[in-house]
Amino acid sequence: MCKLIINGGRRLCGEIPVQGSKNAALPILAAALLTDEECIIHNCPDITDVAAAIEILRQLGAEAELEANTVIVCARNICSDKIPKSLMGKMRSSVMFLGAILARCGTASVYSPGGCNLGDRPIDIHLRSLRKLGVRIVRSGDGIVCCADEPVSGDVTMLYPSVGATENIMLLCAGCGRGVRVYNAAREPEIVDLQNFLNFMGADICGAGTELIRINPSGNMHGCEYTIMPDRVAAATYACGAAICGGRVRLLGAEAEHMRIMLAALESAGCDVLKDEGAVTVAMEGRPRAIEMIKTLPYPGFPTDMQPLLGAVLTVADGDSEIRETIFSRRFGYTCGLAALGADMRADGCSLKIRGRQTLTGADVTAPDLRGGAALALGGLAAHGITRIGGVCHIDRGYERIEESFAALGADIMRCGD
Ligand code: EPZ
Repeated sequence: MCKLIINGGRRLCGEIPVQGSKNAALPILAAALLTDEECIIHNCPDITDVAAAIEILRQLGAEAELEANTVIVCARNICSDKIPKSLMGKMRSSVMFLGAILARCGTASVYSPGGCNLGDRPIDIHLRSLRKLGVRIVRSGDGIVCCADEPVSGDVTMLYPSVGATENIMLLCAGCGRGVRVYNAAREPEIVDLQNFLNFMGADICGAGTELIRINPSGNMHGCEYTIMPDRVAAATYACGAAICGGRVRLLGAEAEHMRIMLAALESAGCDVLKDEGAVTVAMEGRPRAIEMIKTLPYPGFPTDMQPLLGAVLTVADGDSEIRETIFSRRFGYTCGLAALGADMRADGCSLKIRGRQTLTGADVTAPDLRGGAALALGGLAAHGITRIGGVCHIDRGYERIEESFAALGADIMRCGD
């Protein structure tokens, strides 16, 4: 069983490149199904969720290969509309293939998706939106069979701005030849990236990043070459490294606008933030200040994916902080591991109260999920002594060799075992 071994208590200084965005890459890989021409996708992170997406593409009959952060996909010979349960269970984003397979094949047979255990993660908004667009859906157990024999058209209003459901609708309708409007759409930057990729393929979509997305009739979808946006959550992770350990970290390629509210939170905790051409620098001297209250919200609010990262920083802050998690029902799983390091955290429903401690002490902990695992790594980097983190497979779903990035910033961290 692979572990991260950290000898903590060291400042982090230096500069690292920010990886490509996991949450942009996954729907973009699904979008490559919409043409039988070649798509060349650069800045794709080398992570296990991307490997799982490539496995799904191959399962459907596409050729897909990741080489030095570039994926080349050719979906000329699609021979299946089915994703087996084993593959669907590997990640939440497998549900994103539903819209793309339906657009390509007219039918699709999938299962309820897997993904981090962050509480209930239904797909009712996905299915309700597809039905509204004329897709016929039959469920049996966790099997889902869909048929879009009529061209989709019309308007969809989502009861909640679901990121994945917004992307599924865009993938289903991008090349459908009819006008579709999506109201109460999610506004995350990854949705803008998907819109840009689809438009590079010949779609005519506008409004991504706002609550109204218009998918206009367009010609056939064709191949393209595209570069994925930087990963704002990975960038925030290394920025929080400077905040919790002290030091100065320069994030090459980071997009400050995508991290605006996290950077504001770090500034209120006492960090210096510098935004220059193509990089963001976060510096911290001394102990972070507490933050009275931070609440997660859909973008552009404070991102739920960054909640565990800031939670880790606040465990060593000078005072009491509170975090309210409003997106997922169970996203405080990481607090057990941080408590083992000596953090004083009390979760009660959607509220997490944190009393900052002067120091943390190394311990053996296990990552509960992707971003929770990153939070434990942050705690271990700040803790005095040795921290061993199990469940590294969770972290590897979203971070490209996290130990190499932190080591490049001066951390004493290594990966042991296979
Ligand atoms: C995406 O998940 C991201 N994943 C998540 O990042 C991120 O936390 C989330 O958006 C919110 O920003 C990817 O992009 C691959 P949602 P998604 O649909 O699409 C409920 C990470 O760490 N909901 O916006 O699943 C849902 O249960 C991951 O990189 C329904 O009730 O998020 C949740 O409470 C974790 N029914 C809320 O909405 C639905 O049909 C937000 O879900 C869909 C969602």
